[in-house]
Amino acid sequence: MGEPTVTESDIFEVIGTQRAMRRLKPDPVPEEHIKKMIWAATRAPNGGNVQPWRFLVITDAEKKKRLHEIYLAEWNKYKAEREAAPPPPNTSAEDAKKANATTSSGQYLADHLSEVPVIIIPCGFLLAVNTGIASGSSIYPAIQNLMLAARALGLGTALTTLHRHNEGAVRELLGIPENAHTAAMIPVGWPMGRFGAGPRLPVEAVTYWDQWGTKRA
Ligand SMILES: Cc1cc2nc3c(=O)[nH]c(=O)nc-3n(C[C@H](O)[C@H](O)[C@H](O)COP(=O)(O)O)c2cc1C
Repeated sequence: MGEPTVTESDIFEVIGTQRAMRRLKPDPVPEEHIKKMIWAATRAPNGGNVQPWRFLVITDAEKKKRLHEIYLAEWNKYKAEREAAPPPPNTSAEDAKKANATTSSGQYLADHLSEVPVIIIPCGFLLAVNTGIASGSSIYPAIQNLMLAARALGLGTALTTLHRHNEGAVRELLGIPENAHTAAMIPVGWPMGRFGAGPRLPVEAVTYWDQWGTKRA
């Protein structure tokens, strides 16, 4: 495949409107789009440029069904734990509303995962030199590139990780070797809703200058 041509899409518009899209149509996604997304993923920075990744693209109905079962079981456990936990202190009505919206879209995905046309499982290898959190993290910039490319193509994605609680079942299903780690399970499809900005803190609230805790107005 050749390199994609640069379009007029404003990168900041793409970044600013890429969010977890969990309600996806079952309509097929062209293979070229998937390859473009993986092309974008493989442009990402990575430790020593060893490119410690493989991308499993799942379109087979039976395999999607099994992944759905695995994901739903973990979602149900996660939901039960969340419901049993007290709300974080100082939760405003607005915060509670946002949390409810995320739970409702999470529930939709957990109920419909096998209906999405494509599930991508990016797998990462750990680097030989153990640098703590960085050792296995090369896969995540690749995932972000993949999701931004999807957004630029009008495709919805969501970064999910709950399957990791039962990663063994995913390995067994797909023949994934022990040294490859399933970093995420990403449903891909044409969104039912619209892209838009997710709620985030302002830059000033999360930026320190020269010294931890020092802010500029
Ligand atoms: C490390 C990580 C793990 C995540 N795991 C899940 C998951 O298992 N299921 C899910 O529905 N969303 C998952 N998400 C998506 C987040 O819930 C989502 O990014 C967050 O709520 C912000 O929403 P927005 O991207 O729509 O603004 C995960 C995101 C990250 C970065």
